[in-house]
Amino acid sequence: MSSASQQRVILVTGANKGIGFEIVKKLAEESSNNNVILLGSRELKRGQDALVRLGSPSHMHLLQLDLSSRESIARATDEIKCKYGGRLDVVINNAATGELELTVDLAREMFSVNYYGIKTLNEHLFPLMQENGRVVNVASACGLTVLYEASKDLQEKYSLSTLTIEELDRLVEDFISAVGTNSFEELGYNPRSSYLIYSVTKAAVIALTRIEARQWSGAKNVLVLSVCPGFCATDLNKNAPGARPAEFGADSILYVVNAPETRLENGCFYRDGQLLPQIGMMNRKN
Ligand SMILES: NC(=O)c1ccc[n+]([C@@H]2O[C@H](COP(=O)([O-])OP(=O)(O)OC[C@H]3O[C@@H](n4cnc5c(N)ncnc54)[C@H](OP(=O)(O)O)[C@@H]3O)[C@@H](O)[C@H]2O)c1
Repeated sequence: MSSASQQRVILVTGANKGIGFEIVKKLAEESSNNNVILLGSRELKRGQDALVRLGSPSHMHLLQLDLSSRESIARATDEIKCKYGGRLDVVINNAATGELELTVDLAREMFSVNYYGIKTLNEHLFPLMQENGRVVNVASACGLTVLYEASKDLQEKYSLSTLTIEELDRLVEDFISAVGTNSFEELGYNPRSSYLIYSVTKAAVIALTRIEARQWSGAKNVLVLSVCPGFCATDLNKNAPGARPAEFGADSILYVVNAPETRLENGCFYRDGQLLPQIGMMNRKN
């Protein structure tokens, strides 16, 4: 990682509220204050309001970015090239959406942001990543749980060390089709798993992180990591009572942004500074 005195260009997606907002707030407060922070927001107005709430720091800029739109991703990439020197040190893929209903349309929408959005954005931005940069994909421990509750065969598919993006896309597409036919069990998923669709989007993000880390390992010494912010009270869960404040989630995410390289394993999944078990290391036998 760059030393604290070096300037880093950091993009945080979905930063107009919730955990993403707390991340950019903490980054803006960092003592060096040398960072250029790009506050990603799909809606301009919400992003502008967030900037105002943060006191419009001069080193923070709004980047309109809708993860469900390839055009928006391409436009944001061009903007980074034109306005911010075409370089990035850290990308925090924080934006996500979650719905409880089991419909194909909602499943498609959730995967388009939570999985395909991250995948497409990372493909666009990887060429801009600087030496020793970090790509941080925000997942959730429920992505591990949903596979723990799934068949051994399905666990093995997700955890295969040679899994390719095409094979992962196929797992995702098969799952989305199963939402339409209510045939989760045939694929090996447990239909009683909590927040089934959302959780599978996060299982896919954890697997995607491992693939990206493998694909890009060696190139510019960039680390690709996934991280769970822990259960935090935000709009995503209707500010669930008993959940911890969003700023704790931001700390969990910022750990993998700032920890020395020697404390991190490329492609792995973290929460609150701890390495979580990887998919396939969960010993379920069914
Ligand atoms: N909260 C938790 O307990 C918890 C637990 C585990 C993991 N996570 C993960 O932590 C991350 C942050 O979640 P949060 O709890 O802070 O949720 P949140 O308060 O609902 O914030 C989600 C953010 O994502 C943005 N977003 C949604 N769809 C988007 C799209 N198509 N393009 C760009 N941005 C989009 C939202 O923008 P709008 O304001 O425009 O909707 C918002 O800024 C997510 O990846 C979530 O899955 C959260």
